[in-house]
Amino acid sequence: MADSLTIVDNRTGKSYEVPIDNGTIRATELQRIKLGDEDLDGIVSYDPAFLNTASCTSRITYIDGTRGILLYRGYPIEELAEHSTYLETAYLLVHGELPTAAQAATWTHDITMHTMVHENVKRFMDGFHHDAHPMGMLLSVVGALATFYPEATQIHDAEQRRISIYRLIAKMPTLAAYAYRHSRGLPYNQPDNDLSFAGNFLNLMFKMVEARYEPVPEIEHALDVLFILHADHEQNCSTNAMRSVGSSQPDPYSATAAAIAALYGPLHGGANEAVLRMLARIRTVDAIPDFIDGVKAGKERLMGFGHRVYKNYDPRATVIKRMADQVFSATGTNRLLDMALELERIALEDEYFVKRRLYPNVDFYSGLIYQALGLPTEMFPVMFAIPRTAGWLSQWEESLLDREQRIARPRQVYLGEQRRHYLPVTERDRATAAATAS
Ligand code: CMC
Repeated sequence: MADSLTIVDNRTGKSYEVPIDNGTIRATELQRIKLGDEDLDGIVSYDPAFLNTASCTSRITYIDGTRGILLYRGYPIEELAEHSTYLETAYLLVHGELPTAAQAATWTHDITMHTMVHENVKRFMDGFHHDAHPMGMLLSVVGALATFYPEATQIHDAEQRRISIYRLIAKMPTLAAYAYRHSRGLPYNQPDNDLSFAGNFLNLMFKMVEARYEPVPEIEHALDVLFILHADHEQNCSTNAMRSVGSSQPDPYSATAAAIAALYGPLHGGANEAVLRMLARIRTVDAIPDFIDGVKAGKERLMGFGHRVYKNYDPRATVIKRMADQVFSATGTNRLLDMALELERIALEDEYFVKRRLYPNVDFYSGLIYQALGLPTEMFPVMFAIPRTAGWLSQWEESLLDREQRIARPRQVYLGEQRRHYLPVTERDRATAAATAS
């Protein structure tokens, strides 16, 4: 049996053999299928929203959406969530292997060394309105960081890439917390490099007048697990933005700002915020059936449900749901959690959701945990951006080192007007008047 596909062009009767490699055919093979010598382009594959198009090869993250499997560099997400830390997982994503003890110590040192930001960055923050969305602040300030590190444009220099990776992973919690502190009118805290990555983030967010901030261990741990779960997710919308913008070879700060912008939307990283707003709007368990009817009638979406790739329970949602129980046993239960559980129960039994294979995704419960941790709703997508930075950067570097990658530039199917000639406005008006009169 040949590893190939035979395509017969019924317009010409010609047949073409296209190799199948790793379950894919190369779209450029279709360029050979032409009507004749006049046909210069051949056939183009049309795939809006990349429903069935692989844009790259990758060795970072594997998802089997049918079986609900998620692996980072081959390691199951459940094992990493149970045994690893966010920084160790970030090392794994960037370097491809888990670190030795010495490598982990160096990595942690190199990241924590870069947690501070230039004083002028704080002035950028100060320029935002008090009610500016923290995601808007984060994406602007991450873009602005490029101007502080002009050497970061040397993306073909491995050493410069390494430093940019440290800086971005390290500064993201600082900038995220500064966005929060700005919106509350609170002074910015200094990083505490003796704390863990998650512990330092809590310090940056919540330290008040105490001499030293001591994170609550359960909360610090829960946050670290959430960071692991969000660290990468193969070719999602924001990673695609990172790779696509990165393909024109700007510095990684600019590409990361683009990825944050892509994450901001309610269909992606903004979904956790949208889930909380949805639950607040439904208000009571009794109102859930009416809400579900509205979703089924197409009036709105059940936020936190459905996924392009998972057609089974999102494995991250399974870990988060278990963790939600632990967090709520420490912080006390929450009315919105009861509503979420009931909403999930009803949706999983309903034919509409079953038929479309819509299950809770990572965002369905993460927002509830963030709320229990005392974070305001607008901060939820920011909580997604902090850990995803490690994934974005791993994918960005992989893409840069991939000899097959070039500037990302999709084709289109043009359906607009054919060539026509310019008319002066008086003639256009005359033509419009004539058309209206007839
Ligand atoms: N509520 C109600 N119906 C839905 C939902 C939903 N959440 N998601 C999909 N559907 C329906 C959709 O209307 C369509 O039905 P029909 O075939 O009758 O037209 C069918 O299911 C397929 O949906 P789709 O929009 O073609 O699926 P997609 O792969 O383009 O979209 C999605 C994936 C995640 C954007 C979508 O499921 C969605 O909008 N979910 C809610 C937002 C959300 O929770 N996003 C977080 C995603 S996970 C975290 C992340 O990676 O950012």
